[in-house]
Amino acid sequence: MSKANTTDVVEEVIVQFNEVLLESIPSAQQDPVLLHQAMHYVLFNGGKRLRPLLVYFTGQIFNTQLQRLHSPACAVELLHAYSLVHDDLPAMDDDDYRRGKLSCHKAFDEATAILVGDALQALAFSLLSATHFSQLSAQKKLDMVYQLSIAVGSQGMVGGQSLDLLSEGKQLSLDKLNKLHHWKTGALIQASVELGIIASDNVNEPEAIRLREFAHCLGLGFQIQDDIKDVVGDINSLGKKPKGDMAKKKATYPAMIGLDQAKDSLIDLQKKAEICLEPFGNSATGLRSLLRSIDVPCF
Ligand code: IPE
Ligand code: IPE
Ligand code: MG
Ligand code: MG
Ligand code: MG
Repeated sequence: MSKANTTDVVEEVIVQFNEVLLESIPSAQQDPVLLHQAMHYVLFNGGKRLRPLLVYFTGQIFNTQLQRLHSPACAVELLHAYSLVHDDLPAMDDDDYRRGKLSCHKAFDEATAILVGDALQALAFSLLSATHFSQLSAQKKLDMVYQLSIAVGSQGMVGGQSLDLLSEGKQLSLDKLNKLHHWKTGALIQASVELGIIASDNVNEPEAIRLREFAHCLGLGFQIQDDIKDVVGDINSLGKKPKGDMAKKKATYPAMIGLDQAKDSLIDLQKKAEICLEPFGNSATGLRSLLRSIDVPCF
């Protein structure tokens, strides 16, 4: 598949996903209107949809029906959106802009932003376990709920956010920083691939191991890329205020090991992740295109 074709495929999947997501959540006119308007605001304002794409493209390797992948794809995006809304709150990163627009607590208010996060998290698990998604067996849904709840809990995303805040102003060992990054960002990315595996019927253990290793590298690489972008990017390209990590003395890859070494680490992870996909050949074109989008940023 040529690069142009791959981009078209990604765009098509995103369009389809956006339709499914819109149909799956309460409308902005439903009560309570303010809360639902704010939920729509944060869900449809330009996210790259990396995590749903990981669900779809993992399923694609095994020819899994799209119908089976929609609810896990929605669930991971809802959890991701919730994490960003809370991440931007004054009590956390205190960021006024996200995706080039006011962050949720600025466009609405703080209490609404807290409730948006809470509601998105609950909605993720209700969609995943809903009986009307009959394409997935009850056992598969239960496995997904379990994997995802671990991934976003105190030893996953939320734990990582706690470590992130506690690490401000501190010098961390690379091991500790990796744990922080794997938890706050890697866990949900890994869970997205895991849900794609669970949705598929014919995955053998060596294949699952390779995909998990791929997701592990991608998850860490993605946060390293985000850390680098904060240093080298500008508000227009990032859609959020740059150099915020430095101002908050965040524990990041550039802060701990320097910008050049951070870039080298990202390149290493990308190579490792690419190797994990080799045995899947053309069936992994989708995952490969996502991986290649996570390269060293140059502005
Ligand atoms: C940003 O995630 C926060 C991190 C985990 C680094 P994304 O870059 O995936 O955010 P959107 O959804 O595309 O805005
Ligand atoms: C966000 O990490 C991680 C989660 C929301 C779980 P960052 O704080 O680095 O993300 P940005 O830079 O605000 O997007
Ligand atoms: Mg943060
Ligand atoms: Mg932040
Ligand atoms: Mg960041």
